Amino acid sequence: MSSENPKSEITTLAQANARDQDSIAAVILAAGQGTRMKSKLAKVLHPVAGKPMVEYSVNAAAFAGVTNTVLVIGHQGEQVRAALGERVTYAEQPEPRGTGDAVKCAARVLRGRAAHVLVFYGDMPLLQPDTLRALVEKHRATDAILTMLTVVADDPMGFGRIVRDAKGKAVRIVEAVEATAQELALKELNPGVYCLNADWLWRNLEQLRPSPKKGEYYLTDLLEMAVKQGVVVETETIYDVSQAIGINTRVHLAKAEQLMRERIRERIMLEGVTLLDPASTFIDADVVIGQDTVILPNTHLQGRTRIGSDCRIGPNAILRDSAIGDGCTIGPSMIESSTLEDHVQLGPFCHLRPNSYLSRHVRLGNYAEVKNSRLGEGVHMGHFSYAGDADIGAHTNYSAGVITCNYDGMHKHRTVIGENVFIGSDSMLVAPLTIGDRARTGAGSVVTTDIPADSLAVGVPARVIRKLRSNQ
Ligand code: UD1
Ligand code: CA
Repeated sequence: MSSENPKSEITTLAQANARDQDSIAAVILAAGQGTRMKSKLAKVLHPVAGKPMVEYSVNAAAFAGVTNTVLVIGHQGEQVRAALGERVTYAEQPEPRGTGDAVKCAARVLRGRAAHVLVFYGDMPLLQPDTLRALVEKHRATDAILTMLTVVADDPMGFGRIVRDAKGKAVRIVEAVEATAQELALKELNPGVYCLNADWLWRNLEQLRPSPKKGEYYLTDLLEMAVKQGVVVETETIYDVSQAIGINTRVHLAKAEQLMRERIRERIMLEGVTLLDPASTFIDADVVIGQDTVILPNTHLQGRTRIGSDCRIGPNAILRDSAIGDGCTIGPSMIESSTLEDHVQLGPFCHLRPNSYLSRHVRLGNYAEVKNSRLGEGVHMGHFSYAGDADIGAHTNYSAGVITCNYDGMHKHRTVIGENVFIGSDSMLVAPLTIGDRARTGAGSVVTTDIPADSLAVGVPARVIRKLRSNQ
């Protein structure tokens, strides 16, 4: 429903009366064309340290106390909606007609819903949440109408320049394309992060006029308007230029990736984790690692991976979306969407495919592959073996070359193995199959039918040749 509808006007007024005088909303701009990325993927969805860059903006807004976030989308907007879902509200900007026009598009969904509005971009993942919070705090503390972030830097990065008057008051932002040589020499830049009084913002956006050179509606013109009206304007200045990096090309993307990874490594090390060679250790943004864990070179910790304390990981390990307990040793291996309890030893050269669960004290050695299986406490699986769709009971020995034949060409079937079982080398376990506790198979058996507990089966196909004395 459009706001021309009288009913929705009434709702808006009611909301305005009920709203918290302190409430703050965020408008994150992401409707630019992003043409310089030369990509089928929307620019703000390109990952930085394993996470779509726009998520950093959304999270930073939440950290700054924002209760309602509106993402302004345009070109490739459907992709952005699909990726972020209902975490934010969307406003569409049909044509990229400038930053001022983009914020105006958010007015339709936000008017009457917040007392203050934080405006920034979805393509500046390095902006620290602390910086955003400091800006909001200054805005509140000074009762300003407009508080803007500025950054002092030697490299102007094509940013708008902040023009101050004789008293040092910020009076105007001049875009690089419209600046005089004198203005171009200014070192204080506009990173595009603002906090504004909402009522003032919505009123004054209507007064913006297209810029002479580009014909765009510049959000930056609001500064001059505020100064002319004599309302309180404040600035918050940072000197760490990396925070202001906006990603326009893949070169910027690579730079941001590198800086973000450095930041993550530094945080992880300060939390008590040893990185033997930080430069070759790649840790995604949401990874958590416990104290006194040591990460060896060329290790990639990805997605939502969580690692306990006192582990030793790598070298050459890739862990993705996996949970690792305390005291585990993981040599060169790949682990995907799997869980390891405490004191598991794994590798070298293992591959855990999704949904593998290794209980305490499991040991996996050379070229072991596990998929969608649960291994009980203390299972040993040493050499050249595969367990797929299997449940393996505690303290079972799964010898060299053992394979679950879990796929019959049409369907996958499960293999259930009891506790304290000994599967002899090179056994083929043709699923579906159940092997009882303390059973044994002879080397080279092809097991096609269930084996009861305490029995020895050998041959091709395997037959039970003897009952074993149970020592339980
Ligand atoms: C803008 C600022 C400039 C500042 C720079 C910092 C204006 C007029 N200029 O420059 O002072 O130094 O940011 O990076 O605001 N966007 C939309 N819709 C649009 C246009 C842009 O959503 O119609 C979004 C883009 O997706 C991007 C952000 O706004 O995330 C900035 O747009 P961009 O074109 O990169 O900024 P400039 O106008 O060059
Ligand atoms: Ca930009």
